Amino acid sequence: MKVSVAAAAAALLLLLLSAADASELKLGYYAKTCRGWENVVKDHVAKAVRANRASGAALVRLIFHDCFVRGCDASVLLDPTPANPHTEKTAPINIGLAAFEVIDDIKAALEERCPGTVSCSDIVVLAARDASSILSNGHVHFDPPAGRLDGKVSRAADAQRDLPDSTFTIAELIRNFRSKNFTVEELVILSGAHAVGVGHCSSFRARLTSPPSQIVPAYRNLLTGRCAEGPDPVVPNNVRDEDPRAVAAAFPSFLKKLRRSGDFLDNSYYHNNLARIVTFNSDWQLLTEKEALGHVKEYAENGTLWDEDFSEALVKLSKLPMPPRSKGEIRSHCRVVNGHHHHH
Ligand code: HEM
Repeated sequence: MKVSVAAAAAALLLLLLSAADASELKLGYYAKTCRGWENVVKDHVAKAVRANRASGAALVRLIFHDCFVRGCDASVLLDPTPANPHTEKTAPINIGLAAFEVIDDIKAALEERCPGTVSCSDIVVLAARDASSILSNGHVHFDPPAGRLDGKVSRAADAQRDLPDSTFTIAELIRNFRSKNFTVEELVILSGAHAVGVGHCSSFRARLTSPPSQIVPAYRNLLTGRCAEGPDPVVPNNVRDEDPRAVAAAFPSFLKKLRRSGDFLDNSYYHNNLARIVTFNSDWQLLTEKEALGHVKEYAENGTLWDEDFSEALVKLSKLPMPPRSKGEIRSHCRVVNGHHHHH
């Protein structure tokens, strides 16, 4: 009798606890059902980044573009179908989104190991964790909880509405982050991801005619030259990763800052920003508001603090939930909801 009262009390407590945390994400979520899944993800990400370092930045962007739209539910991974031709990935705001095949490979390996168990949304989160760790030489590190489900809804219009655009003013950026419960400080912290990766010229075209107070003329000239190389080429977000010949021609004073290994995830974004050497308008906008500017200076001065705060902000990002009452599942293929045929 006593035991069952205790058991009932324990059950009630569990119920209350799980009701308090509706997301039910936890550390070690797959400890019993898919032991070692973290290593599978890590090995695949390490291999992908070794083969093509650009896939690292793509994975870091992917967690943002997944989680800011309908929460972290892998809705960004769904391919268009005749029934749903305008999925998130077809939205203009998602230009250049990549590394989908890295996610596919991880999913295939995990399906073999523990069928129907690990969600695509958990893979997106862990792959971003591993990518940011590798690109930062281990300085960015965190342990996100797991247990997300994959959503069944993916609409380009949602991505277009919920993701910030590079043409946004600081007020629009702050409002956008605020709507997802992120602070001005977190806006500044997360923008530091632009230390790595690339952007299309169409994403910063207007910057090519911005005044020197907004962009260093030598850097503007460098970008103008790069953007003349094709219809809409990509250029490194971080001038440090530029082609040395292009820098020598347009921006020789920056030559000494070039790195031999590209795409290093650190606080260089904040130095570049204060020096007016960043590509996107949304980056420069951070200098135009008092609090944001204060944080830009803070993270320029303290790289270790940024590593830690960026790690924390990514964990917070990884906890954004699906809209209330959304149906979730464990997809068998990350590009398609269950029950639909998968075409290759
Ligand atoms: C604050 C608002 C933000 C805006 C307006 C913005 C905008 C952009 C744009 C326009 C691109 C280039 C896309 C292209 O032309 O191909 C880009 C790339 C990128 N963004 Fe953001 N972004 C923001 C925040 C973030 C956040 C929060 C993260 C991650 C934590 C992030 C990570 C990245 C990465 C890693 C790339 C490079 C992707 C690659 O090389 O494949 N961005 N962003």
